[in-house]
Amino acid sequence: MTQAIDKDRVLIFDTTLRDGEQSPGATMTHEEKLEIAELLDEMGVDIIEAGFPIASEGDFRAVKEIAERSKNSVICGLARANLTDIDRCWEAVQHAGKPRIHTFIGTSPLHRAIPNLTMDEMAERIHETVTHARNLCGNVQWSPMDATRTEWDYLCRVIEIAIKAGATTINIPDTVGYTAPVESADLIKRLIETVPGADEVVFATHCHNDLGMATANALAAVAGGARQIECTVNGLGERAGNTALEEVVMALKVRHDIMPWHTGVDSTKIMNISRRVATASGFAVQFNKAIVGKNAFAHESGIHQDGMLKNAETFEIMRPADVGLAASSLPLGKHSGRAALRAKLRDLGIDLADNQLKDVFVRFKDLADRKKEVYDEDILALVHAGEDAA
Ligand code: KIV
Ligand code: ZN
Repeated sequence: MTQAIDKDRVLIFDTTLRDGEQSPGATMTHEEKLEIAELLDEMGVDIIEAGFPIASEGDFRAVKEIAERSKNSVICGLARANLTDIDRCWEAVQHAGKPRIHTFIGTSPLHRAIPNLTMDEMAERIHETVTHARNLCGNVQWSPMDATRTEWDYLCRVIEIAIKAGATTINIPDTVGYTAPVESADLIKRLIETVPGADEVVFATHCHNDLGMATANALAAVAGGARQIECTVNGLGERAGNTALEEVVMALKVRHDIMPWHTGVDSTKIMNISRRVATASGFAVQFNKAIVGKNAFAHESGIHQDGMLKNAETFEIMRPADVGLAASSLPLGKHSGRAALRAKLRDLGIDLADNQLKDVFVRFKDLADRKKEVYDEDILALVHAGEDAA
């Protein structure tokens, strides 16, 4: 019996351990990488790019061990377009239940100038290396690096060569975060319509965040027909980072009405892996980062806190539990109102009469004007100071 193909399923390809680790200063230890790979596998990430095996002995060992321990995810290693890289990559990933070789070459004019290859020479190199990778492994991904700045005709030509040579996934990297969402959707759509054999492979999108458009570009590419999103936890990655895993997963979940595609990721595991990656990489998550920032489910102003206390949907489009967070928070500060103060006092087991609350509220506002955040201990001190004065 043949299995029905789910055309709306978007594969999540996580490259935290490869592109993410390429962030200057984000190096992770061997043990940390194993742990993160295990968490990614458990949360339903389809493909884990575990590293770049030729880059160092450490990278090789990490990819090999992640491959050996993998349970459900495809384990992928990166290789440049040469036979030595590809052989080394295969040596590491072959231990996985589901291995993949990912090989790439820069195809834009700027990138072609680096190895100093003519268009024909590069085309020949692509044919040779993808054929070699496919002879080793049934699952081969090929990427024309800097695809979004590659001439249209040449891009079509090299993708066709890679497909004919056996690539099963064609990834379209926006290597320098240059593209805009309308272009991203249009590029994938036109490639699928134009390149012979395109309907037999999966098209992937790999976006960088130099202009802050990585998530928008990735989702637009899916609208254009891509069915694999390459991303990293917390958006870790070169320069301004990559598309953030948590953003695309939650965007597809929350706005399913308008983006009718789905992933296999268990979103309730997002907060845990976000914290683990932040600690391992040493890259703290910015407070206002979408989905996983400290303030993503925090509300300070009186109007917002009052709304939240009455109905969380007034100011939240996702439930904290959907991303693995126990609850939203209503931090007390100078913008907070009486309703939030009363709720906080109740949490602390204190029920004040209206006139007492009025009194504590006046002193609370006075303190909040001097302090960025008012903590539980401050509130308790205010209440007790009031009792002493009475
Ligand atoms: O950004 C990029 O082009 C890459 C490739 C190696 C896929 O990371
Ligand atoms: Zn990249």
